[in-house]
Amino acid sequence: MTTWQWADDRESMAALAASIITREVNGGVLLLPTGATPVPVYRRLQELYERGEVSFRDVTTFNLDEYVGVPEEAQQSYHRYMEEHFFGVVDVDRRRVHVPHGMARDLEKSCREYDASIESAGGIGLAVLGLGQNGHVGFNEPGEDWEQKTHVVSLSESTRRANRQYFPKHAEVPKRAITVGIQTIVASRAILLLVSGAEKTEALLRLSRGIPSREWPVTSLAGHGRLDVVVDRSSVSEDVYRDIVSRIPATLER
Ligand code: GLP
Repeated sequence: MTTWQWADDRESMAALAASIITREVNGGVLLLPTGATPVPVYRRLQELYERGEVSFRDVTTFNLDEYVGVPEEAQQSYHRYMEEHFFGVVDVDRRRVHVPHGMARDLEKSCREYDASIESAGGIGLAVLGLGQNGHVGFNEPGEDWEQKTHVVSLSESTRRANRQYFPKHAEVPKRAITVGIQTIVASRAILLLVSGAEKTEALLRLSRGIPSREWPVTSLAGHGRLDVVVDRSSVSEDVYRDIVSRIPATLER
């Protein structure tokens, strides 16, 4: 079943997302995203932790993706992002957090090891996902085979352009990344998709129509047994909002 929730703005989206994520903290296994969309979510989780309302010491986390060839300590790496926004500011147990190794000498082997760690953790309980402009989830790009676990991908030009803002020049935007595959994502017991940004409209509409298409990786989530879609309404036009809610009544608005 898919539940659509429309939050008034990014902060309300973060509050909703945090309340779903914190249900998993007692021994749960999370798959975690990066990007601009989840920043207020991590901030909210940090606030809850600082107020003593939640602890992350029993949670196991896996990140969705990482660039290939960007050192962990570099400003643009997802290792660094996670350190700044989450791992370094809450009480996670470092032995239980995992981020793909984009600097591994043997990338294939490293992907297989990542899958083995996910498996030995018992699989993913809650996959928290952002959404790419071209419909990618994690770094699963349009046209890719959905029957894949963790793997190396070639980033599309549109994704490289979207990530250009984080690098000094276009040529420095990595051409490859490691991502957890669609097969692992859809095998998660629950999925939380966070959508913010006007440039995500087409991908959001495709998901709302629920017709799976390889060209729009997010449509692989349609039909999942437990999918929560939380949309930052302020980033979506009135027409798109009306179009979607006329077909799919919102479960909750705030
Ligand atoms: C990157 C990440 C994705 C993320 C997407 C959207 O490409 N690999 O996991 O969902 O960007 O990012 P944003 O939230 O900044 O729009």
